[in-house]
Amino acid sequence: SYINFDSSKLSKFVNKNELPEIQAMVNAANDELRKGTGAGSAFRDWLELPTQYDHEEVNRILQAAKKIQGDSKYLITIGIGGSYLGAQMAVNFLHHNFYERTNSTTQVEFVGNSLSSSYVNDLLNLVGDDDFSINMISKSGTTTEPAIAFRIFREKLVAKYGEKEANQRIYVTTDKAHGALRHEADVNGWESFIIPDGVGGRYSVLTPVGLLPIAVSGGDIKELLNGAADAQHQYTDPVLDHNDAYRYAALRNILYRKGFTTEILENYEPNLRMFAEWWKQLAGESEGKDNKGIYPSSANFTTDLHSFGQYIQEGLRNLFETVVKLDSPASDVTIPSADKDLDGLKYLEGKALDWVNTKAYEGVVLAHTDGGVPVMTVHIPDESEYSLGYLIYFFEIAIAISGYLNGINPFNQPGVEAYKTNMFGLLGKPGFEEIGKELNKRL
Ligand code: PA5
Repeated sequence: SYINFDSSKLSKFVNKNELPEIQAMVNAANDELRKGTGAGSAFRDWLELPTQYDHEEVNRILQAAKKIQGDSKYLITIGIGGSYLGAQMAVNFLHHNFYERTNSTTQVEFVGNSLSSSYVNDLLNLVGDDDFSINMISKSGTTTEPAIAFRIFREKLVAKYGEKEANQRIYVTTDKAHGALRHEADVNGWESFIIPDGVGGRYSVLTPVGLLPIAVSGGDIKELLNGAADAQHQYTDPVLDHNDAYRYAALRNILYRKGFTTEILENYEPNLRMFAEWWKQLAGESEGKDNKGIYPSSANFTTDLHSFGQYIQEGLRNLFETVVKLDSPASDVTIPSADKDLDGLKYLEGKALDWVNTKAYEGVVLAHTDGGVPVMTVHIPDESEYSLGYLIYFFEIAIAISGYLNGINPFNQPGVEAYKTNMFGLLGKPGFEEIGKELNKRL
């Protein structure tokens, strides 16, 4: 496959017979997913999204992106959870590491993914008197964090441009028929894009949720979809020898049953940091329920080898690692020679920095394996939109299969409501008064 999945270092942890022996369960999980006989079957439309998306809508997204690039220095992208992580990880991955400081066209900024007043004020100040537009993204249209950010930035937009022009600078991504945002968009005539019913937040990066901000940042969204479409074709055969995504799912399930209950997603590239954040939602929200599931965490190497790398090497042995390794960075650097060898680096003179990075990766894989930590690697060839689309689909399908293998519904998230109920009670939201009284007694 285009992405190379390497599980060759697992022999110490997984016996040869184990993969064939789990094949029947993988077949069953595959049936649940493909035939819709599993729990949560209404949320499987991401499966065929890369080949069945609405072309007219994607063209509208490209036009909107062009307009925004022409009239705005900033696109204020508002959303939380599945309504921002995919866009932010893609913007970070596809561009220059110092994109924010070097980009001369529209900057895509994210807000509404926390309740931090400092963050909101800093962004208001950054925008200052410059031109901007807003992309408000919420499937339900009722999520508190983005709704508050939208009020604040909409007020600024109206103050700067007046109601009429402001309405032409607001782009809404939401449900086609339901929710407060849908209603507001219809009343105000905002340009709007649709999050399909059958695609949950964490599976929505290839819908307008991700596509508009990515397009505004200059990313080629058609190539992103092409990569995902090829992955969609690649990962259909449930036979583990033929399907890397399913093999990854099966192996992580085998490891989980042996007590490897925490997975660390790792990278050796700072522009993959947000990828891990996206993946943590995909994995954690899909699998952590019914009092079970692999705990998803992340590490950025070689940076974190100098911090909690110690824990990975010698701490509690419930960890396994999945590395996303970039094989060919967009550019390389040669380590220069020096007259004297005062820093002791003569042995590296003339060597490529990426070669050093790769040797570090190889050394870590062996050290961690020796230390009792299973390591798998997903190799991606380059930093292109095509590769990212492929990688997104690889993890999406792997996590869905993993969920069914572990006997849960991978597409619901009942647990995210508990904090909301408490927060609404404490904030005095109408309808939550009694809960608020009870909670206040406990504080
Ligand atoms: O995956 C999920 O369901 C959540 O992370 C949601 O995406 C998040 O809560 C935002 O929801 P909404 O898009 O309805 O504002």
